[in-house]
Amino acid sequence: MGIRVFSFLVALLFLASPIIQVVRCQSEADVDATAVVEGDDLGIVGDETQVLGDGTFSPAPGVDTICVFPKNAAKLVPAGEVTEILVGMHNEGESTLNVIAMHGSLHLPFDHHMFVQNLTTQEFFNASVPVSAQATFPYKFAVNKFLQPGSFDLVGTIVYEIDQQPYQSVFYNGTIEVVEAGGFLSIESVFLVTLGVALLGLFGLWAYGQIQQFSKKTKRATKVEVGTRATDANMDEWLQGTAYAHSLSNKPKKKK
Ligand SMILES: *[C@@H]1O[C@H](CO)[C@@H](O)[C@H](O)[C@H]1NC(C)=O
Ligand SMILES: *[C@@H]1O[C@H](CO)[C@@H](O)[C@H](O)[C@H]1NC(C)=O
Ligand SMILES: *[C@@H]1O[C@H](CO)[C@@H](O)[C@H](O)[C@H]1NC(C)=O
Repeated sequence: MGIRVFSFLVALLFLASPIIQVVRCQSEADVDATAVVEGDDLGIVGDETQVLGDGTFSPAPGVDTICVFPKNAAKLVPAGEVTEILVGMHNEGESTLNVIAMHGSLHLPFDHHMFVQNLTTQEFFNASVPVSAQATFPYKFAVNKFLQPGSFDLVGTIVYEIDQQPYQSVFYNGTIEVVEAGGFLSIESVFLVTLGVALLGLFGLWAYGQIQQFSKKTKRATKVEVGTRATDANMDEWLQGTAYAHSLSNKPKKKK
């Protein structure tokens, strides 16, 4: 009985530990999210010099941009790893354009005023797109490896000049899915390992309990057997000399 109660308690502890862990992870996530939003110096990966100045420019007429996530339809961005997207430019304007730089920023999906991270500013030298031409430029960025997985909004901007006039176009303004890089310590793996250990522990306890019960049963069973044998013997004694005993002892003979 004591062992049962003990094993039940241990099992409860094992079962509860992943739940406790998950709850803790969630509160950590909340803390992290607010920290990322508030901390100005937390999220800057490769935030290079401000080549762009403070001004925001308008898009040039006749310039179209397109953004492609190569082999990545789900727009998954592993935290801390470099992701490359391709930005296509189509110049239907009147003169050659020169690409100056691309930069991006990460925002909370529900509020674009919430800055999460300034992404790499990528400068270009000698990257021109003649009139009626198309060109594709890669943009490489990495989101902070401490960013909690989830949906974020990426705003990507390309800055260029035409006839010495600066312009900019937003080439991407949409959701990306930040996922954990293939690290060995993801929350899921911690959870699964804990669950596995808990199940193993439970199985061990169960097996231990079974063995204990089995040995008890066998002890009892042998006792009972002895008992029945005794009563059998008594019965035999009782029946000795009666017709029943005769028929019993005669049976083997008949079979022969
Ligand atoms: C990102 O850069 C802009 C200027 O380009 C700055 O105003 C803003 O505070 C920066 N945000 C973060 C989170 O560093
Ligand atoms: C820039 O482009 C011009 C012609 O478009 C070329 O002659 C020159 O070598 C290029 N410079 C660099 C640094 O790529
Ligand atoms: C991106 O889209 C959101 C809404 O979808 C909008 O509020 C925001 O101003 C856009 N950002 C830019 C830079 O166009």
